[in-house]
Amino acid sequence: MPAKTIIEPFRIKSVEPIRWTTRVQREQLLEAAYYNLFLLPAEDVLIDLLTDSGTGAMSTHQWAAIMEGDESYAGSRSFDHFKNSIQDIFGYRHVIPTHQGRAAERILFGVACKKGDVVPNNTHFDTTRANIEFVGAEAVDLVIEEGKHPASTHPFKGNMDVAALESLIERVGRERIPLVMLTVTNNSGGGQPVSMENVRQVSTVCRRHSIPLYFDACRFAENAWFIKLREKGYELKTPKEVAQEMFRYGDGCTMSAKKDGMANIGGFLCTNNDLLAQQEKDLLILTEGYPTYGGLAGRDLEAIAVGVQESLEEDYLRYRIASTAYLGNHIASQGVPIVQPPGGHAIYLDARAFLPHIPPDQFPGVALACELYLEGGIRSVEIGALMFANAAKMDLVRLAIPRRVYTQSHIDYVVEVILEVWKNRGNIPGMKLTYEAPFLRHFTAHLEPARVAVAG
Ligand code: F0G
Repeated sequence: MPAKTIIEPFRIKSVEPIRWTTRVQREQLLEAAYYNLFLLPAEDVLIDLLTDSGTGAMSTHQWAAIMEGDESYAGSRSFDHFKNSIQDIFGYRHVIPTHQGRAAERILFGVACKKGDVVPNNTHFDTTRANIEFVGAEAVDLVIEEGKHPASTHPFKGNMDVAALESLIERVGRERIPLVMLTVTNNSGGGQPVSMENVRQVSTVCRRHSIPLYFDACRFAENAWFIKLREKGYELKTPKEVAQEMFRYGDGCTMSAKKDGMANIGGFLCTNNDLLAQQEKDLLILTEGYPTYGGLAGRDLEAIAVGVQESLEEDYLRYRIASTAYLGNHIASQGVPIVQPPGGHAIYLDARAFLPHIPPDQFPGVALACELYLEGGIRSVEIGALMFANAAKMDLVRLAIPRRVYTQSHIDYVVEVILEVWKNRGNIPGMKLTYEAPFLRHFTAHLEPARVAVAG
């Protein structure tokens, strides 16, 4: 490479205007949204870092493939493209399309799990946990100790604690564990990767006990890149070879194609188990659609077929991981507490360390997310006490970076806003809940400031 500067490996063909608001307008908008950023109109957000899910920009190749979409109800050519592209990377026998990741989860847990079962994971994402609990099973998080400490710089903080997995299996018995999951990268734990060594060890334990291992594969390409960068023996492999090896240690996966599928909608469920696949397809027909489209249009299948391959391109991954680290390193160097090291798709602010004057029961993560919006029109998301209630081990604010959407100057602006909030952090008030739904409460909760801020 001729120069050291890592640049966006694309040029922009279509642009979408974004809109400024004033601080006074944002104060009114936030109050009207009950201090819940999910309830804001998106057009009142300047830089939207709520999620990297379904918010990416598609490539010219994806848009071209969309025109090739075969909208036949059954047996469409687009399904073959989708299935072949996915099998090329994931290698599993059955590929079942779904409208997004949580539909794959609902079908998997609906078929494989029953009341009283236990499903271990490094850290369950909110929809995964909710779908497991919905069938009366228990979702257990077994991430390594380093993964619970934001300041730890362990290179693979998404790893599962293998000894804890073994003792869980011993304690509850193999019959109550229908499957083990590994989330790559570990979203709720800071977007941290899982090493190939850990995948291999977890797989060995699972195979010894005849328990299937499934990946929550949403960000598999970013995980593969971290393995290539950080794990001995993988330096010369392509991201695709790394991903292929990883999936060989498992028996299936759930996937949201809205992340490393580079699509705006879609997902899939894979398995090597013929009987399970049959039951899953039956359930799919009931709620999602026929197994060659699963609730997606043929054109969506085409966009995903191209997108999963593009997410593994080295130029893209180099830029993707470097641009996330750019945000993290610029704020961390000024003292802002973040989950270290920077993750793949997002930077996570450690809200408990950022706002030590706000107790966890006053939602420091929500308070910080609201302040970022008030200061600069930036939308982020709390991952902490509001999202997970008592299961929350940390209070984080996630700044998720949509794929191929924002340029470096957008990120420079985000850095400036965060540093301004950091300077004035002592004035930020805690929050209190005024309404909550019985599950996944963070999406619809209403809050208000817990007290009037006192300067100093
Ligand atoms: N698993 C993980 C690790 C996820 O991050 C998500 C979604 C899902 C499953 C569910 O997929 O949204 O397609 O139904 N995460 C998004 C986020 C929503 O913002 O992190 P979905």
